[in-house]
Amino acid sequence: MEKKGGEEAKYEELLQAQAHIYKHTYYFINSMSLKCAVELSIPDIIHNHHGKPMTHSELVTALQIPQSRSAHLYRLMRILVHNGFFATQKVHDHDDQEGYVLTLSSKLLLKDQKSSLCMYNLTMLDPVLLSPWQALSAWFKGSDDDEVNAFKTVHKKGIWEYMSNERADLYLLFNGAMAGESGLVSSVLVTKCKTMFEGLRSVVDVGGGVGIMARAIAEAFPRIKCIVLDLPHVVNSCQGSENLNFVAGDMFQSIASADAFLIKGVLHDWSDEECVKILKRCREAISSKEEGGKVIIVDMVIDMKESTHESTEIQLMFDMEMMVEVTGKERIRHEWEKLFIEAGFITYKITPCLGLRSVIEVFI
Ligand SMILES: C[S@@+](CC[C@H](N)C(=O)[O-])C[C@H]1O[C@@H](n2cnc3c(N)ncnc32)[C@H](O)[C@@H]1O
Repeated sequence: MEKKGGEEAKYEELLQAQAHIYKHTYYFINSMSLKCAVELSIPDIIHNHHGKPMTHSELVTALQIPQSRSAHLYRLMRILVHNGFFATQKVHDHDDQEGYVLTLSSKLLLKDQKSSLCMYNLTMLDPVLLSPWQALSAWFKGSDDDEVNAFKTVHKKGIWEYMSNERADLYLLFNGAMAGESGLVSSVLVTKCKTMFEGLRSVVDVGGGVGIMARAIAEAFPRIKCIVLDLPHVVNSCQGSENLNFVAGDMFQSIASADAFLIKGVLHDWSDEECVKILKRCREAISSKEEGGKVIIVDMVIDMKESTHESTEIQLMFDMEMMVEVTGKERIRHEWEKLFIEAGFITYKITPCLGLRSVIEVFI
């Protein structure tokens, strides 16, 4: 093959660099196209189509959108098919007509499913959470120490206070988002990590939201008494069971006594100082220090050398999300270890069994 001359190769590289910038400038289009499909309930509509591929015109009819927008919908579906959210399949054996079917990813976006990420998608792409990104560079230049993140620059309050006081509807959506996310994580945890719960008599799920994780543990291990601790407006309307109770409180103040503490998706919301406080409260609350006692953390451990490029990219996106919306971060192993030592724990074990997330058992 003829080798490209220096000048030609240089232009090719420059054009690739230009395409790289286009891609990163337009990444939001992938997010917003997906959000649009979720808002239109496209996954549910295709799912309810008698188990058969749904043709484009059937989708237009089901969505009740004007015929004049049919071609626009085709373009939306084309990028979503390209991105793996839908696939196309032949409708009949005897002709070439094709229809849309769900993929594993869009199955996880069906509403009313234990592991649905439908509310997660809508919450994280709500204008309240997106607007701080427009203020990120201004936040970097700002000097007000009270503005701990761009969320506070824009909304004047921290996210929990803001949602509690001003957007109860968004807090409800957020709780639903966390519940959907915990659906899959809890199933994997009680199946793949059973041994972590052996011998425990009680577990407190700290910042446990509406209790999806704790409920899964309570059902899988009926001998374990489970308590969910969260803010009053999150837990006040939650129903317990024989071995599951909800307690309203502040994890920075005090935590009910137990053999073990589960902290899922909470520590990454908080700064190192705040995490040490939470971990110290857990340590104080361990019911019998002589018999051991532990904290079970479900969160990410960034390991850029071991992970694939895609996994690292997603973890770094989560890290930026934590920086912009809250005071937390995604941590590398060494950063986790520092927290545990400062909070007075002795050893820890990381089990990377939850995809992007790991389970970290921290022992006294
Ligand atoms: C990211 S969510 C995680 C929820 C749950 N652990 C899960 O993964 O499904 C963080 C939770 O911490 C709760 N939270 C925030 N501040 C809290 C506090 N001071 N005390 C107790 N819970 C708190 C929030 O209400 C929210 O439910």
